Amino acid sequence: MPPLLQRKGILLAGGKGTRLHPLTLNTSKHLLPVGDRLMIHYPLATLIAAGIREILLISTPQHLPAFEQLLGDGGPLGAHLHYAAQPRPEGIAQAFAIAAQAGFLSDSEASVLALGDNLFHGGPELADTLANAAARADGATIFAHPVPNPSDYAVVEFSPEGHPLSLEEKPASPKSSYAVPGLYFYDHRARALAATLKPSARGELEITDLNRRYLALGDLHVEKLPAGTTWRDLGTHANIHELHLWNSARQS
Ligand code: G1P
Repeated sequence: MPPLLQRKGILLAGGKGTRLHPLTLNTSKHLLPVGDRLMIHYPLATLIAAGIREILLISTPQHLPAFEQLLGDGGPLGAHLHYAAQPRPEGIAQAFAIAAQAGFLSDSEASVLALGDNLFHGGPELADTLANAAARADGATIFAHPVPNPSDYAVVEFSPEGHPLSLEEKPASPKSSYAVPGLYFYDHRARALAATLKPSARGELEITDLNRRYLALGDLHVEKLPAGTTWRDLGTHANIHELHLWNSARQS
């Protein structure tokens, strides 16, 4: 049997949550209740379901203690949790420099980065899709899901054969309706490639720029989430409200 790929998980729960004021004036967006859990429990469960055991949770220096109090060492969840601070909201791709500095991710290790406000819900097909991505040793695997508002996300354009042609972060004129959710599987090169990124016009190290590096290398796999998958970015009041409605409909 080939050796099992020990992929490290990074869960990013930083940022100011300004779109959710006043709810986030004294707490992290990721600690808001959503259904019968706190928001952070959803991406954490996604990582654990994908077989990830070593997970670094990154948040602001202000909110990190609350996460440590809530989740501890992760033992009861079946994971080992580690913690590190992102002092300023300087972009999702900064997670790799933070993980490196914390001694969590070496430059020979594969990783998966999950955004703390993304929820995935689906059946066995989704579980298979994530497990396949987790097991792929080479390149990067990201996902695509059709949405009515692609301009709010990174957007991937496909060739007629289904190969990724371009990636754009929040384009005014999206080239497709396929948004890129906040769950990204990388081989060991992510750390080094992320270190070559420059801040975007909004002053952030963009995860889309890292994914573009893989695209340019010909090593980016983009998989459409299986039909019937629910994916939500819970970063706005409207999205949280809509999720509550979805949850109630599911439970009734
Ligand atoms: C971030 C990423 C974007 C991605 C989205 C998924 O955007 O920058 O590429 O599509 O997460 O939730 P944000 O929601 O932080 O603006």
